[in-house]
Amino acid sequence: MKGLRLIATGGALPGRTVTNEELSRTVDTSDEWITTRTGIRTRHYCTEGENAATLAIAAAKQALQRSGLAPADIACCVCATLSAPDATPSVACQVQAALGLPENRPALDINAACSGFLYGMAVARGMLTTLGGQYALVIGCEALSRLMDPADRSTCVLFGDGAGAVLVEATEEENVGVQNSYLRTDGQGLPFLHMKAGGSVCPPSHFTVDHRLHYLYQEGRTVFKYAVSNMSDITATIAEKNGLNKDNIDWVIPHQANLRIIDAVASRLEVPLDKVMINIQRYGNTSGATLPLCLWDYEKQLKKGDNLIFTAFGAGFTYGAVYVKWGYDGSKR
Ligand code: COA
Repeated sequence: MKGLRLIATGGALPGRTVTNEELSRTVDTSDEWITTRTGIRTRHYCTEGENAATLAIAAAKQALQRSGLAPADIACCVCATLSAPDATPSVACQVQAALGLPENRPALDINAACSGFLYGMAVARGMLTTLGGQYALVIGCEALSRLMDPADRSTCVLFGDGAGAVLVEATEEENVGVQNSYLRTDGQGLPFLHMKAGGSVCPPSHFTVDHRLHYLYQEGRTVFKYAVSNMSDITATIAEKNGLNKDNIDWVIPHQANLRIIDAVASRLEVPLDKVMINIQRYGNTSGATLPLCLWDYEKQLKKGDNLIFTAFGAGFTYGAVYVKWGYDGSKR
């Protein structure tokens, strides 16, 4: 196997759309603050019966159907999430069951926070290389509305729910698909974005509930600085190493955490915003789901041979950049 080609996308959004105006009725914020400081106008929240796994299943079914493949063709399933319905079993096992993927193949979740989809592609590639098989499902899915403190204005306006899925194919062709990947971690970032309770160190108790310790905690200003510098540096590095520049980069696909971060990454590459995939205004930050949801939204504009640079940054800190040469024209619907 030489390369990993992306061959179809799928996506799913939950039923409830929440506007900035709606949030401003429950916390001290405003549409003006959220729009100018983040770029977000609406986000989707799961309703009863919806969760990260139901969204993952819907997105994966669509990617499979668009690819024209059968469940038996799928050699492995990797699901990136930090908001799985349960600590165990995994979302990937639920996808395996719901889609009828063969039992004698691996399916697992990974947690690399907002960089999860990029890590997931690398895991899928590794599994296809070591275990064999031609096709893998890589999914990013989140139900972050269930992890946010609805009373904390500094986080509750930022996140949304959704899932994106991509079918990837192991190929002997070199000049298509994933060309280069840089994946990084920086544990210095641990205190700035995390959940204080709910794991095995600080399991749920009356104390943790009373002190609202089960919600996502973020020091936004610090995370912002690291996100700008790390995403800008790593995209500049991957561009330079692969002979890419403002003239031959067709699309930048950045993690959607804040429009000002997206602007900074694009400026560093000197790439105009009409070559940058942006859907933060409609979905907010959907963590591991953001990059496949961008692809799902923009697929119809992509052409075979386009040079795409993905970049992400998330809790940990984790971050990375991946260079992909796109493999087909338009959308597979
Ligand atoms: N509405 C109104 N005011 C708000 C607010 C809201 N929703 N959230 C915060 N504020 C206030 C703060 O309380 C602060 O007030 P103060 O100066 O009186 O203390 C003021 O706005 C500025 O806060 P600050 O945190 O400096 O704002 P910011 O410009 O950094 O924007 C974030 C906050 C969270 C939008 C921004 O820091 C961010 O996007 N961080 C990075 C997120 C990220 O990249 N995550 C990646 C991994 S998911």
